[in-house]
Amino acid sequence: MIRRDFLKTIGAVTAGAAIGLPATEAAAKAGAKAGFSLPDEEGSLNKMPLPIRSLKPQVSRQISVVVIGAGSRGNVYAGYFKKYPDAVKVVGVSDILEHRCRKMADAHGVSAEHRFGDWSEVFKVPKFADAVVISTPDDVHYAPCMKALEMGYDVLLEKPVAPTEKECKNILKQAHKYNRIVAVCHVLRYAPYFIALREVVRSGAIGELVSVQHMEPIQYAHMAHSYVRGNWRDSKQTTPIILAKSCHDLDILRWIIDKPCKTIVADGSLQLFKAENAPEGAPLKCTDGCPHEAECPYSAIDIYTKQKRHLNVFDLDGNRDPEVIMQRLLTPPYDSYARCVYHCDNDQPDHYVSEMVFEGGKTAAFSMEAFAPQGGRRTRIMGTMGYIDGDGSSFTLWDFKTRTPKVWNLKVSEIPEYKGSGHGGGDWPLARDFVEAVAAQDPGRLSSTIDVSIESHVMGFAAERSRRSGKKEKV
Ligand SMILES: NC(=O)c1ccc[n+]([C@@H]2O[C@H](COP(=O)([O-])OP(=O)(O)OC[C@H]3O[C@@H](n4cnc5c(N)ncnc54)[C@H](O)[C@@H]3O)[C@@H](O)[C@H]2O)c1
Repeated sequence: MIRRDFLKTIGAVTAGAAIGLPATEAAAKAGAKAGFSLPDEEGSLNKMPLPIRSLKPQVSRQISVVVIGAGSRGNVYAGYFKKYPDAVKVVGVSDILEHRCRKMADAHGVSAEHRFGDWSEVFKVPKFADAVVISTPDDVHYAPCMKALEMGYDVLLEKPVAPTEKECKNILKQAHKYNRIVAVCHVLRYAPYFIALREVVRSGAIGELVSVQHMEPIQYAHMAHSYVRGNWRDSKQTTPIILAKSCHDLDILRWIIDKPCKTIVADGSLQLFKAENAPEGAPLKCTDGCPHEAECPYSAIDIYTKQKRHLNVFDLDGNRDPEVIMQRLLTPPYDSYARCVYHCDNDQPDHYVSEMVFEGGKTAAFSMEAFAPQGGRRTRIMGTMGYIDGDGSSFTLWDFKTRTPKVWNLKVSEIPEYKGSGHGGGDWPLARDFVEAVAAQDPGRLSSTIDVSIESHVMGFAAERSRRSGKKEKV
């Protein structure tokens, strides 16, 4: 962006719109006041070398995989595998929902004897593939992962690794015992934005990193969908929200700070989504003629049939007709998503703060917030010689000496190969690196092996202990 356009952009932004302001613009605005010059075309970081390479796996042989859990995430990985048939083939599918299993198995030409219901059926037949993808719900990770490792499969394991610290550590031990590769789906590590952020810190551009402020806005409708009505609403059945939602963030903090976390103190609670806050006369479901439906920002009718968010849970096969979606909301099991947000069996906090101290006295403050209009992680990194301010897709680097900001704002969605790769582009590079690691039997090709991923899970369990006990916890 040239200086003239940059000034024009800033001029178009009102002070009151700060929450929607891209970090680069907000930071530049603040910096201009502090006597920094504005970035010009020389101030772009976009050309910095990054491992943004072709998504085609570089392999010397085709690998075979079994997908366990043909839901939303299973389809992300299976969809990627389908694009590179020379490198990887889906040879088995397991899902307790027969229609999901059939759909994925048909798409990949899976033979009848390798179509399974419950995950345990996969392991009743002799090993028939190189690897398994475990993309079942959080409480159905541990048992299939332990069994897969015992039978000699490598594993692509969805996060969170497992619901308890002991189970997470058991999986680590099992991976070592059977000498297998376990890649944890910490997809943000593979997103070009986070890779660039980390590379800038590692280059010494901000001197020595001293502290980080990191915020994860969940977005209010996403909170209602996943953590009030949906699969992750009950911390006892799945995992505490600090792991279910934010293990990515703890992992990114650990990865960027590059030191072990020593202590953590956390707080937070469920403030809004409980029966005592239900408006007068609100029925159990939005579809039961609720008198408040038209004004309620959490209305299921509004979120699904009008805004058309989070439709992947309705098995719509691409049909986005509002009447069809409404029919789903009236029909079990989908009608659980029609429940009033004040009348659900949920217990996950809607705001959660934690403070961490890392080796060497470095600190991080992390907030997970339900009540935000949009997602997009915000990160500020304070160093002895500089500062970084990022909004999840672009960031500005401030150098205290040169007082010339530099901007990284590469649009990953505009790189043709990355179009459709979710999580800031991180989903498919993770799948590529997993295929390459299995083909070469080299876990070194992954940045999220079980060994490095387990630490951030241990941080999450410590945070939850602290939130419940009110005490600072050792990690
Ligand atoms: N990496 C990420 O960023 C990310 C994002 C979203 C979800 N996740 C995680 O991915 C996992 C899957 O989430 P999802 O959104 O795909 O859920 P989903 O409900 O869409 O898919 C899970 C599938 O597993 C199937 N299943 C349940 N029990 C089973 C069993 N016993 N045997 C075989 N299949 C079974 C379900 O029928 C369903 O089709 C969860 O652990 C979730 O936390 C990770």
